[in-house]
Amino acid sequence: MNQMNMRKPFPDQLKAYQLAIEEGLDQSLKQFSCPQQRVLEAMRYSLLGGGKRVRAILTLEFARIGGAPIEQAMPAACAIEMIQAYSLIHDDLPCMDDDDLRRGKPSCHIQFGEATALLAGDGLLTCAFETLCQTADYFPAQRVLAAVRYLSEYAGYRGMIGGQMIDLDHEGRKIDRETLEQMYLLKTGALLKAACVSGCLLAGREDLVPTAEKYAQYLGLAFQIVDDILDITGDQAIFGKPIGSDSQNHKNTFVTLFGLDKAEELAKEYTQNALHQLACLGAAPIFLEDLTNTLLNRLQ
Ligand code: IPE
Ligand code: IPE
Ligand code: MG
Ligand code: MG
Ligand code: MG
Repeated sequence: MNQMNMRKPFPDQLKAYQLAIEEGLDQSLKQFSCPQQRVLEAMRYSLLGGGKRVRAILTLEFARIGGAPIEQAMPAACAIEMIQAYSLIHDDLPCMDDDDLRRGKPSCHIQFGEATALLAGDGLLTCAFETLCQTADYFPAQRVLAAVRYLSEYAGYRGMIGGQMIDLDHEGRKIDRETLEQMYLLKTGALLKAACVSGCLLAGREDLVPTAEKYAQYLGLAFQIVDDILDITGDQAIFGKPIGSDSQNHKNTFVTLFGLDKAEELAKEYTQNALHQLACLGAAPIFLEDLTNTLLNRLQ
């Protein structure tokens, strides 16, 4: 964990964060025993051993920028990754995107069957809130409550779930830019927002919340556009998900609306907007700047 606190060159710092988060997630799940081993096994399968951990890193970075010890924000970071893992399990189900590959492995429902995958998703979702509440060991209850409320709202039907609903509702239908942006802001931006803002709230820094929210919104738009581009141009072995899933599902994306070149241009523009927001954070957020740029140029 000390490894994580020392500021290193970006790739080393990123690796240190990812290792610490992997360890944090492993420890979090180990606390829970369950006589129904199969569901826990499926939860573990989807939560551990894959994923870039972008959201957890954002929680830890915003907590750090807000002046809180990174270690103490770890349960919140783990909670966000649990929500992320659950959302991906459900997103891959045959009734949603019907994708067989996730993080370079068979999707949860391929490995464990649909019913267990559904329950594993539910298990991770509820476990996330139990884990987030563990931050009360370090932070005043009011701050924890604020983080719980925020995550409930943005992971829920007014947030990520709402975005997934727009996504499904518009398969094979015409969409306008405004609705498409709204879909991205919700299905992808909302959880990124919860990740950044929960770090600020735990640190007791409400003053940082508006900037964190705007940053996360722009990052969410850019991040989802890059995901859509990689769904076409990516290498499955690196991307870890099936290529061509969006067109198979007749999804509306920035690429279908604007074409690849314009979508790329817009991803750059939103990234620039996200970077401008970071400038408002005060203490030079160099790591976050590097992370934001790296996410624009990612292959995974
Ligand atoms: C996948 O998110 C879902 C999208 C919003 C595109 P990530 O690309 O962050 O997935 P992991 O967590 O790294 O696997
Ligand atoms: C939505 O986007 C991701 C979630 C909110 C779970 P995608 O459906 O494009 O995500 P991937 O490409 O399957 O990871
Ligand atoms: Mg989807
Ligand atoms: Mg999908
Ligand atoms: Mg995608």
